[in-house]
Amino acid sequence: MTVSELILKNRSTRAFDESTPISKATMEELIRLAAKSPSGMNKQPVRYRVLSDAADIDKMLENCRFAGLLGIKLPPEGQKPTGFILMFTDKEAKSPEALALKDIGIAAEAILLGAAEKGFAGCMLGSFNPTRLLADFGISDRYTPQLAIALGKSAEEIRLIEAKDGNLNYYRDENGVHIVPKLPDADLFI
Ligand SMILES: Cc1cc2nc3c(=O)[nH]c(=O)nc-3n(C[C@H](O)[C@H](O)[C@H](O)COP(=O)(O)O)c2cc1C
Repeated sequence: MTVSELILKNRSTRAFDESTPISKATMEELIRLAAKSPSGMNKQPVRYRVLSDAADIDKMLENCRFAGLLGIKLPPEGQKPTGFILMFTDKEAKSPEALALKDIGIAAEAILLGAAEKGFAGCMLGSFNPTRLLADFGISDRYTPQLAIALGKSAEEIRLIEAKDGNLNYYRDENGVHIVPKLPDADLFI
């Protein structure tokens, strides 16, 4: 697949086919790829924790919120992610926060594009309690939780549409397809 195809394929996915799990080794491979991404001042402040045990995945699912706008239970029962990559910034890397957060975004996208290339999908999650996350997984507060990525094989249909009248709220249509409005050209270029 070309990079353009991967970017279009890489949709935030919140229901997974549990019969095809993503392995710990694959997630580690994605992290090694992401770690080759650009980094502000080359401080490389991003650190990772891989979750692949069912008990750890359940613990993380209890802490995060999927598609808050929809007000439905996601992921659905029996369609959980089969892995998580947790992303942190390391205080000791001494990267200015504004740069470190950009590094997180760049690395997260690299992970998801790499996952899409391997036939997996995922969802970035910023909605979780960071203190609880550190406690749940026994991680030092030297590391600041920034983003979680739920991963697995997609069991969802997702479609992009052009946003109308500035409405950017995603929704589910009558067939359960997840619809994501994206800005039209006229709003992109200033
Ligand atoms: C920084 C960031 C944080 C996000 N946090 C969450 C989250 O906590 N829960 C969730 O379900 N989706 C989360 N998302 C996914 C967005 O809802 C999603 O990107 C958006 O709806 C557009 O869909 P798309 O990624 O398929 O284009 C997050 C995305 C980003 C970039």
